[in-house]
Amino acid sequence: MSDQASRLRNLVEERAVEESQAREIGELYFDVAENTRVIAITSGKGGVGKTSLAVNLAVGFQMAGQKVMLIDADIGMANVNLLMGSVTNRSLIDLLNDEVELEDVVENGVMGVKYISGVAELEATLSLNRNEQKKLHKKLGRCSEMANIIIIDTGAGLNRNVIEFILAAEEVLLITTPEPTALADAYAVIKAYTTYTERRNIKLIINRVREEEECEDVAEKMNQTTKKFLGVSVNCLGYIYDDKVVSEAVHRQEPFIIANPKSPAARCVSELVKILLSGGRMGSVSKGWRGFLDRLFGY
Ligand SMILES: Nc1ncnc2c1ncn2[C@@H]1O[C@H](COP(=O)(O)OP(=O)(O)OP(=O)(O)O)[C@@H](O)[C@H]1O
Ligand SMILES: [Mg+2]
Repeated sequence: MSDQASRLRNLVEERAVEESQAREIGELYFDVAENTRVIAITSGKGGVGKTSLAVNLAVGFQMAGQKVMLIDADIGMANVNLLMGSVTNRSLIDLLNDEVELEDVVENGVMGVKYISGVAELEATLSLNRNEQKKLHKKLGRCSEMANIIIIDTGAGLNRNVIEFILAAEEVLLITTPEPTALADAYAVIKAYTTYTERRNIKLIINRVREEEECEDVAEKMNQTTKKFLGVSVNCLGYIYDDKVVSEAVHRQEPFIIANPKSPAARCVSELVKILLSGGRMGSVSKGWRGFLDRLFGY
């Protein structure tokens, strides 16, 4: 079987680039220490809580002393900026403009979390020419100087953009609710993921559970199904309670982990932060942010 990088290359459009050229670019632009952790947050079904988790997890990590950047890669539904309580003028795609530097698109959010807004036109990244890809690759490379954890809020479902982001990220958190439709769609993501990569760094988070047992039930069922039909085990990292503070916080455009730190949902997210920081890491060897960009842009 070919390695993951080449599979990614097959998945996306042909990107003719000489190996030597790729190395040259890598050496030119990425001489910083690469210890950045990249976590993609995804789901099969839409509306299951990706953005809420991404924002609150980002703030939670920052409160735990990490330097966090949140990138909104949700095509067409970009809304991280709303939950960060501000509106931005610039987004990821503006980096294609020669006059725009990384600093121009990075905003300072709640608790000092840095974030980059997404836009509908992000879809255009897939038809970028080689020069545009290089430009994005080069400019985004410096994100790892600004953060040691980069969280990517992907869109839902199995479109090519989402798949590319989750294949490029070293850690993937797959969010689902206990609803059968959400579970079926989550299963489809696991199936695609295991088809395209040999990585097994995808973990489930069950959102909107009413009690802990519900999470165990759902996780067990999902694991049995993936084992039976895909031959893989998928672990469950944890759960978030169904909690009215989540929607209240969305309305107030404020992370619930700050507004209601003692609420059940906030306590769950704090627990997830702890797990992720203390050996809950879902991969052994990290290539950090640079590795993510290389894979995303087919280097
Ligand atoms: N734990 C929870 N308890 C109660 N309500 C929740 C919870 N998580 C999410 N919600 C509700 O679901 C809504 C959608 O959440 P969110 O926007 O985070 O989902 P999403 O997966 O990012 O959606 P999309 O696919 O549209 O990007 C929230 O506005 C909130 O009302
Ligand atoms: Mg969202």
